[in-house]
Amino acid sequence: MDSQLEVDLDVGGQAVHVGTAHFTRRGRAVTTTFTYSPGYLARRDAYAIDPALPLDAGRGHTTGLPGAFADSAPDRWGRRLIEKAWPGPASISEVDYLVGVSDHSRQGALRYRRPDSPAYVADGHEIPRLVDLGRLLHASDQLAAAGRHHDTDEMHAVRELLDVGGTTLGGARPKASVIDADGCLSIAKFPHPGDEWDVMAWEKTALDLAERAGLQVPSRHLTKVDGRSVLILRRFDRDGTARRGYASAMTLTGLTDGGSADYLDLAAAIADHSTRPDADLAGVWHRMAVFSAIHNIDDHFRNHGFLHSPGGWELAPAFDVNPNPDPNKSRVTSIGGATSSGEERDALLEVAPYFGLTADQGVEVLAEVTAATASWRAVASSNGIPEHEQRLFNDVLPSPPTRGSAGHSRRSPTLQAASLHLPKTPVENETRPPGTPPPASGRFGF
Ligand SMILES: Nc1ncnc2c1ncn2[C@@H]1O[C@H](COP(=O)(O)OP(=O)(O)OP(=O)(O)O)[C@@H](O)[C@H]1O
Ligand SMILES: [Mg+2]
Repeated sequence: MDSQLEVDLDVGGQAVHVGTAHFTRRGRAVTTTFTYSPGYLARRDAYAIDPALPLDAGRGHTTGLPGAFADSAPDRWGRRLIEKAWPGPASISEVDYLVGVSDHSRQGALRYRRPDSPAYVADGHEIPRLVDLGRLLHASDQLAAAGRHHDTDEMHAVRELLDVGGTTLGGARPKASVIDADGCLSIAKFPHPGDEWDVMAWEKTALDLAERAGLQVPSRHLTKVDGRSVLILRRFDRDGTARRGYASAMTLTGLTDGGSADYLDLAAAIADHSTRPDADLAGVWHRMAVFSAIHNIDDHFRNHGFLHSPGGWELAPAFDVNPNPDPNKSRVTSIGGATSSGEERDALLEVAPYFGLTADQGVEVLAEVTAATASWRAVASSNGIPEHEQRLFNDVLPSPPTRGSAGHSRRSPTLQAASLHLPKTPVENETRPPGTPPPASGRFGF
């Protein structure tokens, strides 16, 4: 069965028709043909909504949804809600998930209409306010506790979450869109009954530490609902009522879910697509240093994103940052091939030149990051995490500073840049033509 959607793009608060998407479905499999509209192509501010859909081609074919569409479609949590409410035995396709998302809170700047209607799909959801969090958390708990069989309570919970546009965002954790006390669109991330520690308070702690260490992170606050932590994050893809274009690192690198990815792939995508490559490369290296210091390992390419500004793409703030208490768990995105915490520091310094830093500068940033994150216990306490739970994280968070040191991680042997025999790199050897990406993923052969 074929279907079609008209696609608009919010440009500075104005909806602009960007093109038409034609979907061919065979069972659950979808192919998309996207054609830019001549009016959009004629605009001076037109930009490719996805590198796989270049403006000069005018039209592009994709198996499944183009990455840009997938970034505005739900991930596991939202899909689950849509599946629960799905009538009858007919199979659900990627297009059904895409149109199941609330337009008001849809990620990024893309909006979709059916050809015969001026209204956006799915319009008409009322985004709740913070006072409704108790009701939403209760509904989310009911869903988490539900077995395979749909009972009335579960379906009531599903309806409640769908009615407030609960499918909007990606990610697996229960969440809902809410309007915060300042009237701004925000995300509420909920605890899950299966959580073994106060995951939301730790995410708040990790973001606080990341900010102290110099990263840009979303505005946020932690609130208690029935004594449980709910994290409220201001949406960085909104500017009042205007929407900012958003592309995940998955879309800009052209990689796919479940495949292997390396931060060097991200460096290559930044070289190709960023409007401020030097700042973004340095920003990603800084981010890796912080993620390594706090053992934030769930750093897949949907957990990095880019925002569109008039000149092009730029790195979005860091989000979904959370320490994992198991030091033996590997990082999802490798750092120059390294995935285990024991090899990360060496790897960070080895790849530093590909991110525009000398090894000396890298050592300096690592020391600053370690110093900024060493106070993690005080930050965790300020977020209401009791000492006995803090002890769970002793093995993965920096040890307290000792006399004469800025404090360093238990797994970070002090490495002098001078002892590293780094290869010639773009920083030291300007032979790499501008814009040439660094080597692709995998531990590169020095
Ligand atoms: N502050 C924010 N502003 C705008 N969009 C955001 C923000 N935080 C997260 N997002 C978007 O929402 C999606 C889901 O959020 P997040 O990654 O925090 O959820 P999660 O359920 O913990 O994810 P995961 O499945 O990776 O654990 C992100 O992939 C990103 O696209
Ligand atoms: Mg995520």
